[in-house]
Amino acid sequence: MLSQLIYRSHALTDLSDVELEKIVSTSQLNNKSLNITGILLYADKYFMQVLEGPTREVERLFARIQSDDRHTEVVLVSVHPIHLRRFDQWSMQWVPASKYSGNGLPVKAVPSDLIAAYLNFDDRTSRILDAFIQGRWRSTPTHTPPPWRTHDFSPPITQSQSTTSTTPIPISFAFQPIVETSSGEVVAFEALIRGPTGELAMDFLNGVSTADVHRFDLESKADAIQRAAQLGIRCRLAVNLLPKSLTNAPEAVSFLIKQIRTCGIKPEQLIVELTEEEAIANPLLFQNMVRQLRASGIQIAIDDFGAGYAGLSLLAEFQPDILKIDKKIIQGVAANGPRQAIVRAIVEFCICLGIRVIAEGIENQEDWQWLESAGVHWFQGNLYAEPGLNQIPTINWPLPHKEFSTPR
Ligand SMILES: Cc1cc2nc3c(=O)[nH]c(=O)nc-3n(C[C@H](O)[C@H](O)[C@H](O)COP(=O)(O)O)c2cc1C
Repeated sequence: MLSQLIYRSHALTDLSDVELEKIVSTSQLNNKSLNITGILLYADKYFMQVLEGPTREVERLFARIQSDDRHTEVVLVSVHPIHLRRFDQWSMQWVPASKYSGNGLPVKAVPSDLIAAYLNFDDRTSRILDAFIQGRWRSTPTHTPPPWRTHDFSPPITQSQSTTSTTPIPISFAFQPIVETSSGEVVAFEALIRGPTGELAMDFLNGVSTADVHRFDLESKADAIQRAAQLGIRCRLAVNLLPKSLTNAPEAVSFLIKQIRTCGIKPEQLIVELTEEEAIANPLLFQNMVRQLRASGIQIAIDDFGAGYAGLSLLAEFQPDILKIDKKIIQGVAANGPRQAIVRAIVEFCICLGIRVIAEGIENQEDWQWLESAGVHWFQGNLYAEPGLNQIPTINWPLPHKEFSTPR
């Protein structure tokens, strides 16, 4: 099978024509024997390369190129099977980006009509190359984090403190911070429901009958709020709620409000997280619930954005206070072109609509740095802290820690 792979990378130093020609002549020699064809663009210290050929050969060559120390920040932009080669006559052709943009610089050894034939072609490949020429794919995170430090919070809730559960089966909560790394603030904690000894929800919720699931869901939020208060959480608290848990019970919003007041928490401090799929599956219930929550001052977040199937049409109808980008989009973003393009678009429309963005599932420093440079400010993930069962976990801080902030 034939595949086409496109990546972009950043040269470590500005390469001279001689150095570029050296890369190209080695490439041409090797690629001929590997049955690989393609094109290499170079502009402002950035490369974009298209590799085409037998899938395994393309993968192997890409792995070799990735470890070449003449460049760094290799981002995979596109890879897919093809039935025809786009650059079938070029084992590897270097095209200075200035030529491609049409400003008249000569292209060595390539007749201009051939370039036109190859490049002025309206397909996805040329549109990606155009985007590169126009300056997209040519930016680098500028954010350099200061050294990490850690900070311990209040002690865990003991067994005797947590005996006031309102739910029929015993539960615990694991608290994971949502952090604003640029300021060193914990902006929220998400309360994740767990079994008594930390079991994941799906492993112990079998004990709740279908008829009781929404009542259980709502009542468990009262527990989450109470435990957050016991732990001294004074910033925002995020809880997950099934839309039906509210709409099934007319008194549900007042139940939540009463609980947060009793615990000394303001409505604006509570964030109710809803998954987009639930929202789309029950649009009327969803809107009804949102109206009630908004009227009470509670914040709404769309959870797992991008994991479902119609996030954008949901956003066209309803704009939440907060949007949490799903970890499937976030993880690996630092080296993945499609994910980068999607995140940039999400950040852009959220800025326009005044929606806060949270990137969840952050597990490595590269992804975090890339996201921060792309305009994301709030983060959640094991890079900062794993969820702490009945306690606030130790947090790894890239900046000096500040005390809990009040919601802004
Ligand atoms: C931006 C860039 C693109 C490259 N493209 C190719 C290529 O298409 N084919 C290739 O064999 N080597 C390419 N290389 C060089 C490889 O990383 C590696 O140095 C080379 O394949 C080693 O070949 P050799 O074992 O024959 O010396 C490229 C290097 C850079 C920095």
